[in-house]
Amino acid sequence: MKDFLFYAPTEVQFGKQSEELVADLVKKYGGTKVLLHYGGQSAKRSGLLDKICRLLNEGGIEYIELGGVVPNPRLSKVKEGIALCRQQGIDFILAVGGGSVIDSSKAIAYGVPYEGDVWDFYIGKAEATTCLPVATVLTIPAAGSEMSEASVITNEDGDIKLGYSNNICRPKFAIMNPERTFTLPPYQTAAGVTDIMLHTQERYFNTECDMTIADTIAEALLRTMKECVFAVLENPEDYRNRAQIMWAGSLAHNDVTGNRLTGDWATHSIEHELSAMFDVTHGAGLAVVWPSWARYVYKENMSRFVRFAVNVMGVENDFTDPEGTALKGIEAMKRFYRAIGMPTTIRELIGRDITDDEIKEMASKCTRGGTITQGRFKKLTTADIEAIYQLAR
Ligand code: NZQ
Ligand code: ZN
Repeated sequence: MKDFLFYAPTEVQFGKQSEELVADLVKKYGGTKVLLHYGGQSAKRSGLLDKICRLLNEGGIEYIELGGVVPNPRLSKVKEGIALCRQQGIDFILAVGGGSVIDSSKAIAYGVPYEGDVWDFYIGKAEATTCLPVATVLTIPAAGSEMSEASVITNEDGDIKLGYSNNICRPKFAIMNPERTFTLPPYQTAAGVTDIMLHTQERYFNTECDMTIADTIAEALLRTMKECVFAVLENPEDYRNRAQIMWAGSLAHNDVTGNRLTGDWATHSIEHELSAMFDVTHGAGLAVVWPSWARYVYKENMSRFVRFAVNVMGVENDFTDPEGTALKGIEAMKRFYRAIGMPTTIRELIGRDITDDEIKEMASKCTRGGTITQGRFKKLTTADIEAIYQLAR
């Protein structure tokens, strides 16, 4: 087993009414003046935001609101948040929402104490050494940002979507009440589960393949998600299964299911170009990319794909034909995506045919103009990535 760092400092308060603890938790982690950061409408409509405001008021905690974070959160909103925090003397950021709101919060948290342009961190020009504390009341299980070290931001100037990872921004606490996810539409529910599964798959298809305990946890998580998603699509208020999905979302991205540093992550990088160019839902983009990535790379380590097919997708192992078994596993995954309402082609994802020029542009951006490769399972060049987009079109 490779050496690794496991760092999961986030306090998780999970369950019905867990948001009642919000004021105490903010105080516990040193917040005195809070930026209450949220998205478009959902938290307002559900009454969650009003409830959080009431609880902060009752707890005697000052706060300033900043809503309007959109999926694939934008750099301009981050900069607005940084200016507001500085002007108001904010010392704590509370994200009420999903990955987009949390990632925007993390970016603001880096930016407030930094003299330069916050985008410097995302382009690798600077490393953050300090940031404001961030915490969350989670409303959608998907990105895993509530426990992760990552923040993914889109710079509208050039539609460049980049992630920045740093352990210092892992949220201080995460409040997770599965009841708050009852209002999720089917598409967001399914895209969320797809993302949760992909965070597990990215780690599972790694270069070492010798972390048996993590692999076994990963397979169990993937099988559990395959069952739970159908239950909540049928009954959105199924607490038991909403709860399994919500907790899985955190476990899938807090490194319990595998070592992030030996994971692949090519599917994520290839998808990020799709959501940057077409502003599509991240999880839906992953459903389009993964089967094509898998078909392109499976020969690098066929036995891994056979194990996935058998242990996760329930394919019968044909010992005389490992390649056939591996391919059946990939096909079964694709059928699963279709069954939960996810697109499996770029055409379905963006609603029209993609052009060759657009594919070339995304592939080039994905490798920073051919200066880097993506993925570890197989190191992918610009030409490889172009081929994967072609397979997915
Ligand atoms: O804006 P509102 O009105 O709140 O609507 C949101 C949004 O439209 C809605 N929603 C959220 N909770 C809801 C709800 N609707 C009804 N009821 C609720 N309870 O869902 C939509 C999607 O929300 P968003 O926050 O964008 O979803 P998600 O958590 O999937 O986050 C996606 C972003 O996270 C990034 C993605 O690239 C994307 O930008 N990622 C972040 C990662 C990280 N920080 O570790 C890792 C991931 O791989 C991912 O890249
Ligand atoms: Zn993801």
